[in-house]
Parts: sequence; structure tokens; C-alpha cells
Amino acid sequence: MHVNENVKCIRTQVAIVGAGPAGLILALLLQKEGIDSIIVERQSRSHVETRARAGLIEHHIVEFLQHHGFSEGLDLNGIPHTTCEFRQNGRRYKIPYGDRVGGSHYVYPQQFVVQDLIRLFISRGGKILFSHPAVKIEGLEDNLPVVTCSYQDDDSRNLLLHIQADYLAGCDGFHGISRSSIPITHVKTITKQYGIGWLAILAEVPSSTEKLVYALHKSGFAGQMPRTSQITRFYLECPPSDLSSDWPDDRIWSELDKRLAVEGDNKLIHGPIIEKRVLNMRSFVMEPMQYKNLLLAGDAAHIITPVGAKGMNLAIADADVLSQGLIQYYRNQDKSLLKEYSNIRLPHIWKTQEFSDWMIRLIHHTADTDENKYQAFSNRLRQARLERLQQSDTYAKLFAEDYVGLWKP
Ligand code: APR
Repeated sequence: MHVNENVKCIRTQVAIVGAGPAGLILALLLQKEGIDSIIVERQSRSHVETRARAGLIEHHIVEFLQHHGFSEGLDLNGIPHTTCEFRQNGRRYKIPYGDRVGGSHYVYPQQFVVQDLIRLFISRGGKILFSHPAVKIEGLEDNLPVVTCSYQDDDSRNLLLHIQADYLAGCDGFHGISRSSIPITHVKTITKQYGIGWLAILAEVPSSTEKLVYALHKSGFAGQMPRTSQITRFYLECPPSDLSSDWPDDRIWSELDKRLAVEGDNKLIHGPIIEKRVLNMRSFVMEPMQYKNLLLAGDAAHIITPVGAKGMNLAIADADVLSQGLIQYYRNQDKSLLKEYSNIRLPHIWKTQEFSDWMIRLIHHTADTDENKYQAFSNRLRQARLERLQQSDTYAKLFAEDYVGLWKP
């Protein structure tokens, strides 16, 4: 390695790339065990703490966060949900899924989770290098991994930092560098493009109902998800090639009013739209999720569509299993759990992908390519599914178990 005055070298036990939910949970779990780690994060602290993403935390992830003492903010401000509502042809299908399985999931925005975890990790002496993008990963073949980050000092000089570690945790999301550091001959990537877009909207308005609402409409799906008492997330199905500029605010409200229309008094409250962006419905899983001493967690290893809101939950569950493998190694010099990391995680990830795929088909008439031709038929199927969800205890229990996140393989 070439060393000069613009390059610094440090060492840690576990170098973690990315301060999202996966990286932060992993760092906190290692910290509890006295295992040394450093997180490097491409963005500034304020950027990651204000980035609005998902907001639904599964039942067993809530229990996990509470068990480890990571849930102070969630306990104070998270809102438990036990009922959702599907809408089709102006009819409501209320599903009290919480009663079916005796559980609930919580609405608590991801940026609040991230804020809480950063504060906790740093207050306990943890180290996060913000505005330090990882630019290179080397040494994997020799089991001597090094991650190199670039950064600027106070005089705006461009500098490099090499971090040598026993293990690297690639928690740097879909666009990070960790995944691409693994030789392509070693991994398989399995993908699906649904050909569906969602315009994701954040509006500064209270939700018209406290329930999560999924509306199936011939113009496309629309969703309404309360976030806080003053902020609501809405979704509108659109072609994935649409740009947010194709959706002026007036068009958004008129389309939401139309698609979410339902019997009874449930008018939407209109107000300022504070964010809108188009999401492409796609799924992606890399197998295995590890190579030598580099282990991937969260979006770095797999992407799931936002339908069902499982992304953050999978990321936290990955970090939990990965931490157990690392803890076993540092306690007993036993690598057996680390070697099994992918094999443990992939069945859960695929079962969650299956649920998301099922739900995509439930709420979009464009999910199957032939469906434009058979729209009337597939509409009746969707209606039959919704009625069955309301009427059959067994069918509803299956949905509830997956939706709330009570089920673990
Ligand atoms: N160097 C350092 N940090 C990086 C780099 C890099 N080269 N590339 C990306 N990052 C950072 C990103 O800025 C981000 O803060 O890695 C972090 C990854 O965090 P997330 O994208 O939140 O991914 P993850 O922790 O796996 O959580 C998954 O996030 O996107 C949502 O829907 C997804 O809810 C799911 C959750």
C-alpha cells in the first residue's frame, strides 16, 4: 500500500460501510459486546437523519429493538397498527389483522429510527465518519480486507483513509460499493422488474383515517399511510418512466381523490406536498450475501418493493444474524455461524419476497402482462381475494402473520 502525507491508516475489528438501519444496528450490537467497529458513511449526518424512507416496523423487530434497549423513540412516538383497509369500486374491506394473530406493527418513520440509533451509538462512544465515502475495497483474497474512504479536511484538501479490519460489513445500500467488490463469478443475482411505478408523496396533512389504506382502482393503485399526526405518505401507481415533474400538485390531489374515493365520509385533507419521487417496483437478491471476510446486509444484498414495507425490517434482521456470527467469532474464535450467515438469512428473505409479490398482484391490475387483456377477469379475482380476506379466518391469518411480521422461519 502506498503511503504519503495525504493518506492515513487506522485499524478496527469490524469496518462497517453505511450508516443506514443495517449498519447502525450491527454497530450497536457489536458495541454491546465490546467489539470495536467504525462506520464510514458517504453522506453528512444531517442528510441521513432527514432522509424520508419507509416507516412500518414489524412486530418481532419492535420486540427486538425493545429487548436491546434501542427503542426509546419508538416507544414514545411509534403508533401501533392493527387494522388496514382495502378499497375497490368504492367499497371498503376492513381487515383487523392484529386481532387475527394477536400482534401489531408500528408506524415510525425510518429517519427517526436512524436518528435514534446514531445518537445512541455515539453517546456510548461509537465512531461514525460522516462524509467519508468508501471508494475502494481491497485485500479480500488474502483475508486482509481494507476499505479506503475519501474525505476533505478543514482546508478542503482531498485526503484518503485506509481502514484495515478483520471483517467488512457492506451495509451501503443498493448503490454502495461493497456488492461490486465481490467477483461476479462468485455470486448470482436474481431480479424482477414489475413494470410498475409508484409516485411516493409526502404531504403535510393529517391522514383522513388512522388506518393504512390500499385502494385498487382502474386508473391504478393508490395508498394512504399515516406517518405522524401532521404528515401523511401517499402513493399513486404510475408508469415507472414518469418523472415527478409530470405530477404537479393539482394532478396528484385530483388523482388521489378519485382513486381513494369510498362510501361514507372520508374526504382527503389537501395541503402542501413536501416531497414526491417515482419508485420503480423491482426486486433483487444476491446469493450468497458474503465473500471471504466481506458480509453484506440490507439493501446492499437485496432490494424488495415497498409493497408490504419490509425493506428496513429485513435490513435489521440481517444485522442481527450477522452480529451473532461476529460475536461467536470474537468470543470463541468460532467462524461456523459466520459461514452460515447467507444460508440462515436467504430463506427468510425469499419468503418475504414471496409475500411482497403476492401483495403486488393483489393491489395492481398491471402486475401481470396479460391482465390488460383480461381486466374484467382479474378484477373479479381481486374482489374474490378481498372478500376471502374478510371472511376466512385461515386466509386472513396467513396474511396477518406476514403483514405484521410475526412469522419467522
Ligand atoms: N460509502 C459509505 N457509505 C455509503 C456508500 C459508500 N460508498 N454508498 C452508500 N452509502 C450509505 C448511504 O448513504 C446510506 O446511508 O450507506 C447507507 C445505506 O443505508 P440504506 O440505504 O438505508 O440501507 P440499509 O441500511 O440496508 O436499510 C434498508 O433502507 O432504502 C431503505 O427501503 C430500504 O427501508 C430499507 C432500508
